[in-house]
Amino acid sequence: MTALTLSTSSATTLRADAVVVGVAKGVKGPVVALGAEAMDKAFGGKLAAVLETLGASGGEGEVTKLPSASGIKAPVVLAVGLGDAPAKDEDFDAETLRRAAGSAARALAGTKKAAFALPLADVESAAAVAEGALLGAYAFTAYRGGEGKAAKGGDAGKSAPLAEVALLGGKPRDKAYKAAVERAEALAAEVNRARDLINIPSNDLTPKSFAAQAQAAAKEFGLSIEVLDEKALAKGGYGGLIGVGQGSENPPRLVKIAYRHSKASKTLALVGKGITYDSGGISLKPAGHNETMKCDMSGAAAVFAAVVAAAKLGLKVNVTGWLALAENMPSGSATRPGDVLRMYSGKTVEVLNTDAEGRLVLADALTRASEEKPDAIVDVATLTGAMVLALGNRTFGIMANDDAFRAALHEIAQEVGEQSWPMPMPVELRKGMDSPIADIANMGERAGGGLVAGLFLQEFVGEGITWAHLDIAGPAFHEGAPYGYTHKGGTGSAVRTLVRLAERTAAGDLG
Ligand code: BES
Ligand code: MN
Ligand code: ZN
Repeated sequence: MTALTLSTSSATTLRADAVVVGVAKGVKGPVVALGAEAMDKAFGGKLAAVLETLGASGGEGEVTKLPSASGIKAPVVLAVGLGDAPAKDEDFDAETLRRAAGSAARALAGTKKAAFALPLADVESAAAVAEGALLGAYAFTAYRGGEGKAAKGGDAGKSAPLAEVALLGGKPRDKAYKAAVERAEALAAEVNRARDLINIPSNDLTPKSFAAQAQAAAKEFGLSIEVLDEKALAKGGYGGLIGVGQGSENPPRLVKIAYRHSKASKTLALVGKGITYDSGGISLKPAGHNETMKCDMSGAAAVFAAVVAAAKLGLKVNVTGWLALAENMPSGSATRPGDVLRMYSGKTVEVLNTDAEGRLVLADALTRASEEKPDAIVDVATLTGAMVLALGNRTFGIMANDDAFRAALHEIAQEVGEQSWPMPMPVELRKGMDSPIADIANMGERAGGGLVAGLFLQEFVGEGITWAHLDIAGPAFHEGAPYGYTHKGGTGSAVRTLVRLAERTAAGDLG
């Protein structure tokens, strides 16, 4: 990963390939943000005027590169837009800085070292810039190379992420700043781990290879791990995981990966949907709906990454991750619409649509997680297209069996810069899942499809356990133009929310 250091050097004298400065949208044109005073001075106090002449406005995410003035060691200046200047006595909020740092880092792909001279009002803003820079300096290059790498156009040749970041304006000897940078590094590395897993195509990321990656990480970070293979799952009665996975040549797995702290008083269970490819099964998805379905394991990736992050940060809380891994494929051995599965909980489910598979694998994992009586369960899943229609591509939905917990998660997501919205669980939607032959069907009314899925999951959560469900179908995989620290492909959605939830739980802030 990109190396990041806090530096006391001046932006003008530091040896780097580029210096990043902030530019905000003022009433009368662009204004240079705090942190770039020495840079502006080297431009004879005319940096804002130069930027305006170059067409810069200071709008969010805008990037302007210019050759630097004499007296500045770095050859290039990169001005990144911060949007509207904050009101007097107020600072840029964390997400604005995170995105600006991300845009700058993306624009500097192919560059070796950059100094970031953005406005750092406090530790929080330093942490945000560090996170944004490290998340922006990401590239998924595992499948590039050989002939294509340097040849032709595209971004193949310049895809190496920015290698070194010097963060200016912080306090390198201050404990809080050091801790903030360490946290940002651990967090970004884990978000990037989730992104990598999501970006690996399904021919290489199977339930088995995903489980192997979890095993390797468990070894590296001292986590306990248990992997149930298809035989153990069949023997254990995991009808949901078996039913979804049985059509594929790549059999299912249930992974339990756990971080323990000797002084922890609370245990958090995280459950992730890990469909390594969702073809829809016999209820096959049409072309146009299956090209990105390697992303259907994004929930499991987020859970896995969050458990590792908790370990790296040494949080005083126990965190157990459950990865429900299966590939949903049509074949002669696949579950048919109309089949009835006997789930791990003992409940029976009539599978009306084999494309509503996420809730089936999650149901088994939720029941299993509940047996250990955790203080709370949060599941994360790319569960429904309905949630995408409701909330768009950047916002995940939060459902819960506890209003306060749902509100807490919404607040936490907001705090870490992830867009979310609380969704209801209207009881009247339950009857749409009544089945003439089984305890429940895996599909209900079309209207409110995301909420119906939440109601289905709730039936498999143990009595009296606080539970929330994050439907990340929209934000998990980014298909549009890159922006801020968000690249095309896997985003690592929900990792930061889960980690902050673990931190809050460790601090005793929650129930
Ligand atoms: N994995 C999909 C949901 C999805 C859609 C994720 C778009 C990411 C982007 C899920 O398994 C699915 O197919 N859901 C169905 C459920 C329906 C059959 C009840 C859906 O949303 O259409
Ligand atoms: Mn599906
Ligand atoms: Zn799916």
